Amino acid sequence: MSRTSKTGDPNPSPLSRRNFLKGAGGVATGGVIAQGLLAGTLGEEGAAAGDVEELSGEVEIALEINGEPRKVKVEPRTTLLGALRDRLEPPLTGAKLVCDRGQCGACTVHVDGRPAYACMLLAVDLRGRKIRTIEGLGSPAALAPLQASFWKHDASMCGFCTPGFVMAIQACLEKNPRAGLAEIRAGCAGNACRCGTQPQIFAAALEAATQLSKGGK
Ligand code: FES
Repeated sequence: MSRTSKTGDPNPSPLSRRNFLKGAGGVATGGVIAQGLLAGTLGEEGAAAGDVEELSGEVEIALEINGEPRKVKVEPRTTLLGALRDRLEPPLTGAKLVCDRGQCGACTVHVDGRPAYACMLLAVDLRGRKIRTIEGLGSPAALAPLQASFWKHDASMCGFCTPGFVMAIQACLEKNPRAGLAEIRAGCAGNACRCGTQPQIFAAALEAATQLSKGGK
């Protein structure tokens, strides 16, 4: 499964970890961020093609996480998932590390409103970007409709894939609150559940879609 199958772009990243490893393979190990590529894919202002920013050691970056400005120290190689789970204080561990290679979707978060594999993005590439994690959706005391629907339909077994499915489907429903089964399936085509909970997941998603299409929040 691949997130590419639904968006045509597996990550909103200017420079995904995969591209970084491909493109910077022969470059200094301290970490080199190709601002030209950044500019080319995300329209980053002020970065001319070919500009290269050399980073070494830890750098402090600013992100907006779940609506709050946050600063976090990362190494150039730190993924967004690593920054969230291991570098942020307090950490956000809702997004899960499972495959660590963009294949399972357990690490799905939103970057500027689009679903993305947090294990495949370098944190330094996301300076200034808006990140939303499962913790930003609702709380145990006030679940978001989709989370409540997952709970109601018992759409979780081991639970490792659950946050990723919720974030992927949430993005789909925010794009189209009237999404039907086919669209919801496509929306989480990049997420895998080995426990076989898909029937409950889709039932939960369809119920949340019905609620949202009637104006529920
Ligand atoms: Fe990121 Fe599997 S942990 S896609």
